[in-house]
Amino acid sequence: MYIGQGIVRQDGRLKVTGGARYAAEFDVPGCLHAVLVQSTIPAGAITGYDTAQAERMPGVVAIITHQNAGALNQHKAAQQTVTHPFLQDGRIVYNGQHVAVAVADTFERAEAAASAVRVRYAPSEAVTVMDESALSRAYKPKQFQNGEKSPDVSRGDEDAAFAGAPVRVEATYETPVEHHNPMEPHATIAMWRGDTVAVWTSTQGISGVQETLASAFGLPKESVTVVCPYVGGGFGCKGNTWPPATIAALAARHVGRPVKLVVTRPQMFTSNGYRPKTIQKIRLGAGRDGRLLSIRHDGFSQMSDPMLGEFSEPVGVVTQMAYSCRNVAVTHRVVPVNQGLPTYMRAPGESSGMFALESAMDEMAHALRMDPLAFRLANYAERDEQKDKPFASKGLRECYSRAADRFGWRQRNPTPGSMRDGRILVGWGMATSTYPTNRRPCHARIVVRSDGTVLVQSGVQDLGTGTYTIMAQCAADRLGVDIARVSAQLGDSRFPQGPVSGGSATAASVLPAIEAAADALLARLAALAALDPHFAQVPPADIRLDGFDLTAPGRRVPVLQVMARAGLHTVDAEGSSAPGDAYKAHSCHSFGAQFAEIRIDPDFGTIRVSRIVSCFEVGRLLNARTGRSQLLGGIVFGIGMALQEETLVDRATGRIVNSNIADYHVPVNADVPDIEVMTVDAPDLATGALGAKGAGELPMVGVAPAIANAVFHATGRRVRKLPIRVEDVLA
Ligand code: MOS
Repeated sequence: MYIGQGIVRQDGRLKVTGGARYAAEFDVPGCLHAVLVQSTIPAGAITGYDTAQAERMPGVVAIITHQNAGALNQHKAAQQTVTHPFLQDGRIVYNGQHVAVAVADTFERAEAAASAVRVRYAPSEAVTVMDESALSRAYKPKQFQNGEKSPDVSRGDEDAAFAGAPVRVEATYETPVEHHNPMEPHATIAMWRGDTVAVWTSTQGISGVQETLASAFGLPKESVTVVCPYVGGGFGCKGNTWPPATIAALAARHVGRPVKLVVTRPQMFTSNGYRPKTIQKIRLGAGRDGRLLSIRHDGFSQMSDPMLGEFSEPVGVVTQMAYSCRNVAVTHRVVPVNQGLPTYMRAPGESSGMFALESAMDEMAHALRMDPLAFRLANYAERDEQKDKPFASKGLRECYSRAADRFGWRQRNPTPGSMRDGRILVGWGMATSTYPTNRRPCHARIVVRSDGTVLVQSGVQDLGTGTYTIMAQCAADRLGVDIARVSAQLGDSRFPQGPVSGGSATAASVLPAIEAAADALLARLAALAALDPHFAQVPPADIRLDGFDLTAPGRRVPVLQVMARAGLHTVDAEGSSAPGDAYKAHSCHSFGAQFAEIRIDPDFGTIRVSRIVSCFEVGRLLNARTGRSQLLGGIVFGIGMALQEETLVDRATGRIVNSNIADYHVPVNADVPDIEVMTVDAPDLATGALGAKGAGELPMVGVAPAIANAVFHATGRRVRKLPIRVEDVLA
């Protein structure tokens, strides 16, 4: 079995040697360069452009504005939210909105031309920051979770239960705007041939790009080819097709030549979504026995002008199933301000929502004078009480106990400020993690060639997480062939269609499709063998292709001989899969427990994370090496959320002031302590044949509250606003 082993990444060598080509690196002859022009006001209307100077500059081919861009269709693709493509009208709804694009023969000339474009505006009043005073603008989202769920959910009578609860906690929590900052920026090369267009673009969903461009330009889907073999990180900001990709295709059509558009690092803060700021009001009621009597979670999240689309951070979805409680009420509202459209960012809703819920749980444990872990165990949910379904699997109890033992939680002195290392304050905090197990329809193809090599193809994406490798592991196992002979191909719309790589769903979606394709391939080879008189003496029952044994020992049918005698150089087969009845009959989640130790210098207020011990239940761990990397990476992301990441806006202009990765802080090695991850390796058979539950987003959920709870334990100060800063803990 290759599945489960720590197989080295198949694309690793290509990546470290520069052999892996990213979107902007494809060599398309005659390619021009496009540079975006962005609005400098947060709200108003464009009254005119002065493009004459820019058009006269050397090498400039076109300056495209809304006045000459031509109309695009606006349409919702099945797989994603389609955002406003821009360059369609003169309305300005945020600072940084794309208002023109300069096309020239070199990047430098395009950039010079872009900076020479003058735009005249009639500004109007803007609200650029979401704060308590902006909450009066809140409204109920119309497309909550793609319109599949209601923003308001409840069970029991939360009001009455809270009013009667002997112990109550009520608080407001805040999470900031965050940007994804993948290493590879968005980039697109677009090339038209007649009425067909090919794009090389950095995306988490080639099918979504295909659908979006097809609808924008009024083309059949087959006329759009999307290629994306490598993604240099995404974290959610490459889940939609954002305006720069559409603008690249528009520009290429406009000038009749291939065009490359690479979004600059500062433009990454205004072009492709962000995690919206949230204000979350939570109240909990409990009995003195430590049982939760009521939970209320009212979430407000920052939104753009509705012209751009809609996104709501679903902070309270996880609150509905996290603990056993009869009386629960959850609401979601969006607050429009003059900023871009927010989007999914790693564990959207779960990571931000669990910061609030798990902080409140810690506050309640403290109010009850209960150990925070014991309090959670006292309210352990044995089933999903909101959906009224059993969990497909839930190993959270084991996660709690293994991580707590390894961390040494029993030695914790519950009194805040009581644990010290010399003059340094030490804090221990913990939190629960959970994330839904998503699975989507997926198709795959397997090709066996006469040289004995095997190709596995699917139109999925590899964000750097190891999809190539697990695809090969899965096919090699199912076919019984040496993995050295198997290579995976993905990220091409000409392959059988795969889902967006979001919601931690890729592994659980693509592997069952590969298994189905492998089974179909073996059946096809068996049928070929059965037709061949050379193999007639072999009883049909002995045509055992499951071994896929290319050297054909014993009575096994040698596959290559079968192909050679049939005159075939390749044999291929397709397979597909979709979530089945077992999936629908259960509530499908992964789980985990996070334990953090922090150290605070009482004189300087510096907060260092010194230790994290976590245990996760992710079903079967498909690759011990890449799986562990995913879990570690998620925890590092959580450290950034807790202590560093925040996008800052100048209130007067609505402009983002730290739109670079020097001023926008993400954890570096010095910020990352010893992290120990363990897994409860239990296949979840409701969610796929291999029982994989997805490990991309879960590991960041619960990290920020575990750290915030540790800060409280170290100092007695409850910090309810992220990121936690020096000034929050100084006297
Ligand atoms: Mo993820 S935020 O579903 O890419």
